[in-house]
Amino acid sequence: MSDGSLDWMASAGGPLRGTLEIPGDKSVSHRSVMFGALADGVSTIDGFLEGEDTRATAAIFSQLGVRIETPSPSRRIVHGVGIDGLQAADGALDCGNAGTGMRLLAGLLAAQRFDSVLVGDASLSKRPMRRVTEPLSKMGARIDTESCGLPPLRIHGGQALTGIDYTLEVASAQVKSALLLAGLYADGETVVREPHPTRDYTERMLCAFGVDIEFSPGLARLRGGQRLRATDIAVPADFSSAAFFLVAASIVPASELRLKQVGLNPRRTGLLQALRMMGADIVEENPSTHGGEPVADLVVRHAPLHGIEVPEALVPDMIDEFPALFIAAAHAQGATVVRGAAELRVKESDRLAAMAKGLRALGLQVDETPDGGTIHPAELQGGVVDSQGDHRIAMAFAVAAQRARGEVRIGDVANVATSFPGFDVLARGAGCGLAEA
Ligand code: S3P
Repeated sequence: MSDGSLDWMASAGGPLRGTLEIPGDKSVSHRSVMFGALADGVSTIDGFLEGEDTRATAAIFSQLGVRIETPSPSRRIVHGVGIDGLQAADGALDCGNAGTGMRLLAGLLAAQRFDSVLVGDASLSKRPMRRVTEPLSKMGARIDTESCGLPPLRIHGGQALTGIDYTLEVASAQVKSALLLAGLYADGETVVREPHPTRDYTERMLCAFGVDIEFSPGLARLRGGQRLRATDIAVPADFSSAAFFLVAASIVPASELRLKQVGLNPRRTGLLQALRMMGADIVEENPSTHGGEPVADLVVRHAPLHGIEVPEALVPDMIDEFPALFIAAAHAQGATVVRGAAELRVKESDRLAAMAKGLRALGLQVDETPDGGTIHPAELQGGVVDSQGDHRIAMAFAVAAQRARGEVRIGDVANVATSFPGFDVLARGAGCGLAEA
């Protein structure tokens, strides 16, 4: 995990050109290990993200008694232990930087007959967990947190859970998924309703593992007491990682990149819509499906962008893409306004504050509001920005620097390895100016 010792120097390179293979989807990779572990039989995962977050989840299931083989990079063979086959771990389970790992595991482990403790790194230890512990406790779970609902989570096993009909307060696929996982063990039916539909990988993948689950945008419903049947999972390329290259090629003159077979789940691609509203030239080619998900090559060419008011309805579909969006906005003609995005304050960092501060350090005016802000574009200068140990902030500023007038030093970038190992190598290969400081 990040020790905070790595910085990058980033500066304008040439135009970005070539064909890039983006690593596997983080959300899908986490779930593939979890559900493979709970299934009866052996599941194979192809395209598994070799990131620190997803490796932490795999390591946790090894601690819980699941045999997981790595025959080659990005491949896992998971020997499922069945829905009741997990074993108590010796020590605390370390989710690293991963909110998805911790929140989904909270739901799953609350339903086991043994106790567990979930811990995380400094960033995860500051992230709100009440959003999962409260509804889980309504189902009968017993989970102790630190004050203010922060990790570590001390989960008391051996509780009989009851199904719940629950409407989420914030649109969160992690909370929805935690409740559905607990619901697999609960007496009766669990129904989760969302204020805005969120990514439905849990629902789709449980279905692929043979679970009888009913779902439509904004609603998921399953009965407890079902078993999972092993299956093979093909993980698509992560749209959230592709996002940085979509923005980089859009803002650097003469660029043209092809991003191969990127996952285009409609609950993930809000940025594509926002960039197109801004004038971006992004074409989908070779559409197909990969592991049941829509995928396509994304061909992106430089295009002049203009500022927009980001439609609030798009926010949940691009919740991880705001750091990239802010950089596109910084290089557009005219201001961009973001509203309804207060959730950004409780991600791996306070992303509204981190982006505003970083852009100001490079000479921009950003008016920050509690749930968004206005980015006033101008020519970016060189300077020093702090990624706050947040992988997406670090990558966003590496992209920003490709159109800056001077060098940009980006502090504390080691956590890029949580979601996009090899980002710097890929970026340099495509033409970006990026080196370890
Ligand atoms: C995720 C859900 C989102 C997203 C995160 C991954 C998931 O979090 O930001 O990167 O895999 O379910 P929230 O559920 O907090 O919105």
